[in-house]
Amino acid sequence: MDLIFYPVNDFGPLMKGLVIGGMGIFHVFLAQFAIGGGLLMCYFQWLASTGREPAARRLVDSFFRFLVLISFVVGALTGVGMWFTTIQISPRTIGVMVEEFHWIWAIEWTFFWLEVVAGYTFYRCALRLGDRDRMRLLLLYTLAAWASLFWINGILSWQLTPGRWVESRNVWSGFFNPSFWPSLLYRTASCMAIAGLVGCAVINAMPNLSSATRTALIHRTARFLLPMAAMPALGIWYLAVVPPDSRAWVLGGSVAMTMFMMLAVGASLLIGLYALIAILWQRLTINGATATLLAALAFVASAGGEFVREGIRKPYTIRNVLLSNSIPPERIAELRRTGAASRDPYPLRDATPLPTDQLRLGALTFRLQCSICHTLDGVNGLVPLTASWAAEQKRVNIAHLQHLKTFMPPFAGSARELEALVQFIGWQAEGAPAAWPESENRAAEERIRRYLDEAGVLPAVGTIRTGER
Ligand code: HEC
Repeated sequence: MDLIFYPVNDFGPLMKGLVIGGMGIFHVFLAQFAIGGGLLMCYFQWLASTGREPAARRLVDSFFRFLVLISFVVGALTGVGMWFTTIQISPRTIGVMVEEFHWIWAIEWTFFWLEVVAGYTFYRCALRLGDRDRMRLLLLYTLAAWASLFWINGILSWQLTPGRWVESRNVWSGFFNPSFWPSLLYRTASCMAIAGLVGCAVINAMPNLSSATRTALIHRTARFLLPMAAMPALGIWYLAVVPPDSRAWVLGGSVAMTMFMMLAVGASLLIGLYALIAILWQRLTINGATATLLAALAFVASAGGEFVREGIRKPYTIRNVLLSNSIPPERIAELRRTGAASRDPYPLRDATPLPTDQLRLGALTFRLQCSICHTLDGVNGLVPLTASWAAEQKRVNIAHLQHLKTFMPPFAGSARELEALVQFIGWQAEGAPAAWPESENRAAEERIRRYLDEAGVLPAVGTIRTGER
């Protein structure tokens, strides 16, 4: 069986990677709020039942309960959405993840199920239950929600830092991989901060509270921002354990990654400073508008962080195992000989008439190897990126793809396919004319073969060439 995955889907001008990323960002934010929200409800239930803050019960029973419900329902829906998009876009990746970690997924789903049942039971029955049962249900909900983070975190962090798993193939060395703990703890702090901010916004919106009670509740809630103090250290820990090339990108090597990382750091810093100076130190209260604005900043911080985490994995979806375009690195040498797209069993979906077989092969090559990160004319479009290049420059650069930008995988196809891709990009750049002569260019293919040999078949992340003249 040919184990190369041939993608057939097309998201038009939207880059496929961005479709997964965008969905992921929403999902993570909602799911993290659902976890932090559970913790906050436990804390408030405790404050109420011990008589420390009787009004706290109102938060637990009011709007907040709905918010947590909505977040875990929408969180679950976007979770299903994640499965749906990843099996469309990158089924090989998700396939390897399921193959390696099916029991872990099963455990994760069991906890998620428990979270849903406990959350829903609380939602339906809380008003009829005594304090002890309310607390039990809330604890069950929160522990289950956090446990599903615990289990999923092992799988997601493994994608970037599979660690000793690469040699041992042992599930647990993959699960407790080098970035497992910093990422779990960092995410736990984010869960709490997000819930703290949304909590403050909700308390402001609650009617009939005396201003003293409101302030007291807000100060209690603001404590959930305190774990943010550990975020810089956890962030540094995380960066210290990711591969050196990924680290280099966030530290300036890739402008996009660096800027998103600065955005995440900057937004978190603003929230943290506000919490520290205004709420905890000056004992100011925080009004609804400010809390909402800070929660929006927390979304920006999460989005930036997730974008960076996904981005610095390039050119792999699973480090050392699977390249971003679902091609296993060890297959490249063979695919250079046999061709890859030429054996694609699926027809092109786009109805645009392609005048020649060569252009059809070029389109298939683009679909197989580039379309996960590039579109033709839209986001990260190949036509504008190569607009000023002569045909020969396209040949050289695409043959040396992994050296052109180290976050791209090596070209994984034959010289004939590469030439077809060059022609396809050129044809698109000319506005897809009805006639486009096939380049029966043996000499060009011969040169491409030489360029490909020079480039080699290994991904180039972290390579520095020295001593060449
Ligand atoms: C893992 C994702 C990924 C894959 C797969 C990928 N690229 Fe890229 N490529 C990128 C990114 C990200 C950039 C950076 C764009 C920028 O700098 O604005 C880029 C840049 C480029 C550029 C411009 C380089 C420059 O220096 O200006 C070209 C040309 C290009 N890619 C061609 C391709 C071709 C052809 C393929 C398929 C054979 C491909 N890429 C596959 C991610 C990828």
